[in-house]
Amino acid sequence: MYTNILTTLQDGITTITINRPTKLNALNKATIEELHTAFDTADKDTATKVIIITGSGEKAFVAGADISEFADFSEAEGGELAAKGQHLLFDFVANLRTPVIAAVNGFALGGGLELAMAAHFRIASDTAKMGLPEVSLGVIPGYGGTQRLPQLVGKGRAMELIMTAGMIDAAQALTYGLVNHVVPLAELLPLAEKIAGKIMRNSSVAIAAAIQSVNAAYETGVNGFETEIKAFSTCFGTADFKEGTTAFLEKRKPNFPGK
Ligand code: COA
Repeated sequence: MYTNILTTLQDGITTITINRPTKLNALNKATIEELHTAFDTADKDTATKVIIITGSGEKAFVAGADISEFADFSEAEGGELAAKGQHLLFDFVANLRTPVIAAVNGFALGGGLELAMAAHFRIASDTAKMGLPEVSLGVIPGYGGTQRLPQLVGKGRAMELIMTAGMIDAAQALTYGLVNHVVPLAELLPLAEKIAGKIMRNSSVAIAAAIQSVNAAYETGVNGFETEIKAFSTCFGTADFKEGTTAFLEKRKPNFPGK
């Protein structure tokens, strides 16, 4: 069905694997479009409780946007590339109702790090390397990197990383808070699945409301506290809330209907 990605659904987890290993999984237009479809499909599928995004091979998560595709672009085409990419993939992923974990299995550079940062959180293999090298190509991050990197690591660290076009290793990314856990490569997907398992025990509608509320803190012109109050209130009308509170009072594990 897809040319550039692989998807599997098992035990409530949709795993999306970017599969262009000979190009270090670089994001060309076709891959971005396929990723949009795969994320959209998984988000709408009630059997999917968590989405894991990773890269194929041992070398790269994603080594960036496909440089060969935009090398001769005009200003207008460059603007369109960034706008379309943010709309179709990066903002789209960040605002999904279903939790998205990025399992960073190697180089996450440029658009690759931007994709990992659009996910709700990140874990990495100890072989991973991360950076936003765009200024070394005469361009800047255009898929949300100038916004999400400072949000995650602080302005000073983001400025240094962007200006030097440097890479940090997994240990430093952990220190920066850019990734939550670092494990050997063979343990990366098992860890992502273990965390997904913990997430899945909880109410998916409440999780979607939590994602929306946390994201509201980073939207200009939106009062996150107000968003939280509204989302909190909505929870009281859900079957999940009835089940969660009833199960607690009956001293049993909840069996959330997911609505
Ligand atoms: N766009 C297009 N192709 C890319 C790519 C990208 N972002 N990153 C890697 N590739 C391709 C290479 O062109 C090469 O293809 P080829 O075998 O047909 O020549 C293949 O992937 C392997 O990459 P290579 O550079 O040979 O591997 P390496 O181990 O020597 O270096 C990197 C690895 C990640 C350091 C290097 O590939 C790199 O710097 N990539 C670009 C990173 C970047 O600037 N990303 C931001 C883009 S905005």
